[in-house]
Amino acid sequence: MLVEYRGTFYRLLHPRPTVIVVSKCPGGKTNMMPASWNTPVSEEPPTIAVAVDKSTYTWTCLEHLPEATINVPSIDDVDLIYRLGSMSGRDVDKTTELGVELAPSERVSVPHMARAIAVYEVRVHSKVDVGEVTLYVFEVLRTLARNGLADEWGIDLSKANIPLHGAGRVFHRVDPRKVYAQKRQRYATG
Ligand SMILES: Cc1cc2nc3c(=O)[nH]c(=O)nc-3n(C[C@H](O)[C@H](O)[C@H](O)COP(=O)(O)O)c2cc1C
Repeated sequence: MLVEYRGTFYRLLHPRPTVIVVSKCPGGKTNMMPASWNTPVSEEPPTIAVAVDKSTYTWTCLEHLPEATINVPSIDDVDLIYRLGSMSGRDVDKTTELGVELAPSERVSVPHMARAIAVYEVRVHSKVDVGEVTLYVFEVLRTLARNGLADEWGIDLSKANIPLHGAGRVFHRVDPRKVYAQKRQRYATG
């Protein structure tokens, strides 16, 4: 039996894979923010959407320069992720404050996180204004993955795990055990 859910609606869509959006801000400062409201959108063109609250400095930076890198961190970096999401680049330089190593990108002028498992170099393709948020649709210009940690099916979870954001300080690992669906459907399709 389904009953009315009394919690905040989006809780039932968590835990979610968390990325770190790196942007370049007015004055040239680099900024970083974790974002778990993200998703691939289309294959042609290759796009990824991220919901960015208009109150964040990242939003200001993306409006200033419509380029970014989308970094897939390791679960080992949850402390860093949480801290990046608990302060604003408006007040501090997160790169120096947290000692994050950045590396230059090729297709965008925004650097990426040197220790990321995977990196997308992206530019803004389009955006949708929704309430307190701008949904940025980014076109992927270049995709990088750490050597040995990914194959054609994605990140090798037996070698590296990624953070799924639950709520607040809580993150979950991806269970690397696989569950295979039946090859042929057993039920009648009509
Ligand atoms: C795990 C995690 C996921 C988050 N996901 C989002 C998100 O998808 N969109 C968003 O606007 N803020 C998200 N936040 C909040 C921002 O990261 C936070 O407001 C951050 O301080 C903004 O930094 P900035 O002002 O330097 O851009 C998230 C925070 C955490 C810790």
